[in-house]
Amino acid sequence: MRHLMNPLDFSVEELDRLLDLANDIEANPAKYAHACAGKKLATLFYEPSTRTRLSFEAAMLNLGGSVLGFSSADSSSAAKGESVSDTIRVISGYADICAMRHPKEGAPLVASLKSSIPVINAGDGGHQHPTQTLTDLLTIRSEKGRLHDFTIGLCGDLKFGRTVHSLIQALIRYPNIRFVLISPEELRLPDNIRDDVLVKNNQQFQEMVRLEDALPELDLLYMTRVQKERFFNEEDYIRMKDFYILDKEKMKLAGPNMLILHPLPRVNEISVEIDDDPRAVYFKQAQYGVYVRMALILTLLEVEVC
Ligand code: CP
Repeated sequence: MRHLMNPLDFSVEELDRLLDLANDIEANPAKYAHACAGKKLATLFYEPSTRTRLSFEAAMLNLGGSVLGFSSADSSSAAKGESVSDTIRVISGYADICAMRHPKEGAPLVASLKSSIPVINAGDGGHQHPTQTLTDLLTIRSEKGRLHDFTIGLCGDLKFGRTVHSLIQALIRYPNIRFVLISPEELRLPDNIRDDVLVKNNQQFQEMVRLEDALPELDLLYMTRVQKERFFNEEDYIRMKDFYILDKEKMKLAGPNMLILHPLPRVNEISVEIDDDPRAVYFKQAQYGVYVRMALILTLLEVEVC
């Protein structure tokens, strides 16, 4: 039995197979419509979510399976003090696979140690968000045709942004990726990612504060939200929240083929006037999330469709 805690839990070859499967699901949805008939997915979400929870649920329903779960800690027995270890032991008897989001780093890993069903980390605190990374890789590969030889700008909250941490770890395994890290001083990439992942692996990277300086050289721009829920101090959040706003004027500095990705939700960091720009692929990216989660469920449940 396999779990997914970190994008590195899959080798590059396994990831290629997963992304190929996701592309086939997109092209031939009817072929997979009953692949998980009789199987159940539990979504255990201790933190708010729209895309991750609902795309997991859509994925299992598209595969002919069923879903159960809770969407907040308050509506579960966590509110009475139940541990994730006890919860997963119980859920293991109710479902065949589980996706868990939790504000505490490592909570899905703790659950996986007591689980008798595959556990998928659907986001743990500021740590990792591996299924967002699978979504991002599928989006980049489908829209750019490759996962190598590009310059990617990562902009916004690089300190608490778990999507950024997971994506960097996944991308360093592909050749000739250059990272441009664009953030205010206070929201720089944490040392453990910069030193232990980028420096240690001899990756090309540069840190910048001004988005305008980075835009002309980027093949991909990955925008992120400044996350109110990760700040201890409201004043700091208010000072940072509108630090970056990508608008039509700034987009004049970007190349004609530069794609804009965003894990969403967005707040103010991308102006709605950009949404119709053909370079904006963030809503398409959310749709890719369903195909890749379908592929992940099939892979972890070891369901083969001929
Ligand atoms: N991208 C993402 O994780 O979105 P949600 O928080 O809505 O799940």
